[in-house]
Amino acid sequence: MRMYDIIEKKRDGFELSQEEINFFISEYCNNKIPDYQAAAFLMAIFLKGMNERETAQLTDAMAHSGDMIDLSEIPGIKVDKHSTGGVGDKTTLILGPIVAACGIPVAKMSGRGLGHTGGTIDKLEAIPGFNTSISRETFIQNVKDIGIAIAGQTGNLAPADKKIYALRDVTATVNNISLIASSIMSKKLASGADRIVLDVKTGSGAFMKTLEDSVKLAQAMVKIGENTGRHTVAVVTEMDIPLGKAVGNSLEIIEAVETLKNRGPQDLAEVSFELAARMLELSGKGSFEHCRELVREAVESGKAINKFEELIARQGGRKEVIDDYSLFPQVKHVFEYKADTAGYISTMKTDTVGVASLELGAGRETKESTIDYAAGIYFNKKTGDRVEKGEVIATLYTNREEKIPQACSLLKQAIGLSDAQPEKKPLILAYID
Ligand code: URA
Repeated sequence: MRMYDIIEKKRDGFELSQEEINFFISEYCNNKIPDYQAAAFLMAIFLKGMNERETAQLTDAMAHSGDMIDLSEIPGIKVDKHSTGGVGDKTTLILGPIVAACGIPVAKMSGRGLGHTGGTIDKLEAIPGFNTSISRETFIQNVKDIGIAIAGQTGNLAPADKKIYALRDVTATVNNISLIASSIMSKKLASGADRIVLDVKTGSGAFMKTLEDSVKLAQAMVKIGENTGRHTVAVVTEMDIPLGKAVGNSLEIIEAVETLKNRGPQDLAEVSFELAARMLELSGKGSFEHCRELVREAVESGKAINKFEELIARQGGRKEVIDDYSLFPQVKHVFEYKADTAGYISTMKTDTVGVASLELGAGRETKESTIDYAAGIYFNKKTGDRVEKGEVIATLYTNREEKIPQACSLLKQAIGLSDAQPEKKPLILAYID
């Protein structure tokens, strides 16, 4: 088999066989195919597309390029959740303890943030002492003992995706539904869950900016799940506004704790509880309505927050942070960003909000950047809220005083004011199963 012929076949719009797809993945991972041929092949896929079978087989080949985590030692159905990424998205920290408190094992491998989006692992590391690099044995033992573990992805999880993603990033071939869907799902398949709930974000802070594209991506991933024997459902949720009020690692942990104590912002609670209920439904706990009840009960009874405390203690973190937020790292500078005119907040360019938070130190510009866990933005007002001239819209937390003007100028670009109150949009936009 020659790579040249495979590129030519896809370039001319033909379907690839499983052998050809497997050949590309294994030879590229073994450095037998040069980047220029791989890039030409990815561009051919980008332009001519892949059908459902090809996409499923590409996903499966990428998943099998590295470790396939075996969770069979943990009794029961293991349900995973994946978000396509957003700003202020801390739902894993809320739904993980809720689902575990309802008796369903949560064996969660999560990623770090890059660019304007945050990652669960960085957020957890804001908790003093919390260890996300636990061994596979400890990970499995913790799930068996307390029903939950959250760890960083191992280096050898879907290495083909790592290599291909890096090439797509520099060859304008990221934004293709088959390629995004196979990239995300390959990591999910390799992580070992039996069933998967996808949170596909849509809007200015998301990867997919329109509802139509988000639904297409969700459908493609659900089909991959079905074609590879992992029951998968997707919820398309709003990311035109940051989720909750806090953006930045320790601020987000505090907000997640407040939500687990049933005092969190309404939008964050609604999306997190919906996803938790979908996970419970998928694991066979009963109808969706019944699962919503189970979620409510877990939160109101305090079982969910107790489970989070148990998780923190088990992974070496200071569990006292649950009741004493002063134990989180603190910033030297707090700045109030105020409205220069009165009006209703009509728009928030959420990716720009993410960049403002990154400027303050909360994110990574490159993979090597270090994070300031205390930095971030707390939104006193969000889309739909009325603000008077001089009223505080957001509170900025940073150790980089010199970055405050730049962050304010980004917030000015991001936040639009209007005379009329904008219509309230639903948070849950579609459900695909
Ligand atoms: N996230 C991924 O993991 N892969 C993509 O291709 C896009 C977003």
